[in-house]
Amino acid sequence: MNALPQLLDERGVLVCVGTGGVGKTTTAAALAMAAARRGRRVCVLTIDPARRLSDAMGLDDGALGNEPRRIELPAAPLDMQEGHDTGGELWAVMLDTAITFDALIANYAPSEHQRQTILANRFYRNIAESMSGAHEYMAMEKLYELHADDRFDLVVVDTPPTTNAIDFLEAPDRIRRFLDHRLYSVLVTPTGGLARVANAAARTFLRSVARIVGASVVDDAIEFFAAFDGMEDGFRARAATVERLLRDEGTAFVAVAVPRPDVVRDVLAFAALLDGTGISTDAVVVNRVHPRFVRALPNGVDDPALAPFAAVLAESVAIAAAEDAALAPLEELLRAEVVRVPLLAADVHDLVGLDALGPLLLD
Ligand SMILES: Nc1ncnc2c1ncn2[C@@H]1O[C@H](COP(=O)(O)OP(=O)(O)O)[C@@H](O)[C@H]1O
Ligand SMILES: [Mg+2]
Repeated sequence: MNALPQLLDERGVLVCVGTGGVGKTTTAAALAMAAARRGRRVCVLTIDPARRLSDAMGLDDGALGNEPRRIELPAAPLDMQEGHDTGGELWAVMLDTAITFDALIANYAPSEHQRQTILANRFYRNIAESMSGAHEYMAMEKLYELHADDRFDLVVVDTPPTTNAIDFLEAPDRIRRFLDHRLYSVLVTPTGGLARVANAAARTFLRSVARIVGASVVDDAIEFFAAFDGMEDGFRARAATVERLLRDEGTAFVAVAVPRPDVVRDVLAFAALLDGTGISTDAVVVNRVHPRFVRALPNGVDDPALAPFAAVLAESVAIAAAEDAALAPLEELLRAEVVRVPLLAADVHDLVGLDALGPLLLD
């Protein structure tokens, strides 16, 4: 039985993971749309900075931003109208790391003065806009925000390619490690923050850092940590909450792949990583599977008059065999449901195209 309909009906978060280029963004958008057709209020979140989600939905460039936007659903195709629930809604949002980070600071800053100091601080702007890991952490933060938003029953997440998706899962822990870091604790002590930088060892350390990166950078950093004082507990608690959300039984992981040995290896490696942290992969979507015209060449096809036809059939049988061989380890090693989606004749670039993927994903 295909596990996807039940995941779409019952879960609160669905995270799509997989290597780039396999159709992850398309699949996330199609799953979100299918859930909306089934009556749920769905928000699809893309973290991929490439504008693929707006492409797949046929929206203009710049149509998606950090605030969820309602997407008007076209009339359901005739064959879908029966049993289709009209109460569903589709929303979409594209993560903006810096805006999300600023909102988080605003949330935890104990005073308006501290909030403004941090937001204007150059060291902070640097972290918010370019620190590796900030992007992944803010993705988690955004997911948490959307999950808590009463407007949505289900959040579908389109993650960046696999390597980053692992960062994504480790992001809450990375924030905690940053807060536990020795440099951080030298700069900010529980009582009085900056004052304790008077410590001789710290002063020597900061002087040598200043020689390398410039005194103003150090001043900015000190100002940032001083203003950040008192906010770590909020951040730590939030990181733990976000981590719990990922492990929650209401959260599902769907891997997206294509029938190629290297991609299948990536999926298995990622599933093993997830498994190591106690998270199971609930389903695997294998996208772009070639059509199976016949299982084997029929008798009599060696008639010379049929040669061109026979060549096409032979190639199709060979491709199908290679794809099945590539997929065999998935079906053997993973307890997850494997759902096959055919290679389509054209790109998916609008809501009608996404709608057409629904039955292929769910039946
Ligand atoms: N089953 C399919 N058949 C044909 N084209 C597809 C299929 N799935 C996705 N595509 C196309 O493949 C391209 C890459 O898809 P995308 O979802 O952006 O991949 P990813 O997010 O994994 O990088 C897009 O042009 C999309 O329309
Ligand atoms: Mg993508």
